[in-house]
Amino acid sequence: MRQIIIAGNWKMHKTVSEAVSFVQELKQKDLNPAVEVVVCPPFTALAPVAEALKGSSIALAAQNMHWENQGAYTGEISPVMLKELGCKYVVLGHSERRQYFGETDETVNKKVKAALAAAIIPIVCVGETLEQREAGTTEQIVATQTKGGLQGLTAEQVASLVIAYEPVWAIGTGKTASDEDAQQVNQYIRQVVASEFGHTTAEAVRIQYGGSVKAGNAQGLMSQPDIDGGLVGGASLTVDDFVGIIENS
Ligand code: G3P
Repeated sequence: MRQIIIAGNWKMHKTVSEAVSFVQELKQKDLNPAVEVVVCPPFTALAPVAEALKGSSIALAAQNMHWENQGAYTGEISPVMLKELGCKYVVLGHSERRQYFGETDETVNKKVKAALAAAIIPIVCVGETLEQREAGTTEQIVATQTKGGLQGLTAEQVASLVIAYEPVWAIGTGKTASDEDAQQVNQYIRQVVASEFGHTTAEAVRIQYGGSVKAGNAQGLMSQPDIDGGLVGGASLTVDDFVGIIENS
């Protein structure tokens, strides 16, 4: 049985004080224990949020990292730095990183390996643009990104991580993929994992959906057989919206 994982990716939102009050309020809620809840604050808020989360089952994730543990990489943050802060997860290969910051399947792959080496679980994002969907290349794109991001990993490593299918056209647009469309692509990604790493691995790996997930559409999405959670942007920024998604998952 794969446990549902709902992660709130705050992107470049929330100062330290805003982030800490969010998690203090979230901690007071009666969250469904069957759902794994994760928050992904910006780097500046990771340490204080980790402190505020002490004693709760809510997990902490970073939104990106470098693949080296140290070095002359001005402005970058390393796996060991995140591990020390208590990050359980790190989001890698988000489409915004690919689009605006030159992330490629090759750099995603280096980061995935570095995260695993530091005992941080990667949440590896894949997804097609609207243009690619309209050209009928969705499967090709997600297959290439999945294989590229996971290249050289052992089956056991792949089974332990999380993949997030985020169609770029559904991110922050209010356009959600239909339950059926999201299920179809998630199922296809699982097939790709099966062909590369075997059936048992494919059955174990958790595959989220992301793109305009809200309380109102969470139930339909999360009840699909190959959707094991959500990577939530906009609707993770207020406690009530985020809790609504967790409750409906
Ligand atoms: O990583 C989450 C994401 O990109 C989806 O954002 O605002 O459409 O939920 P949003």
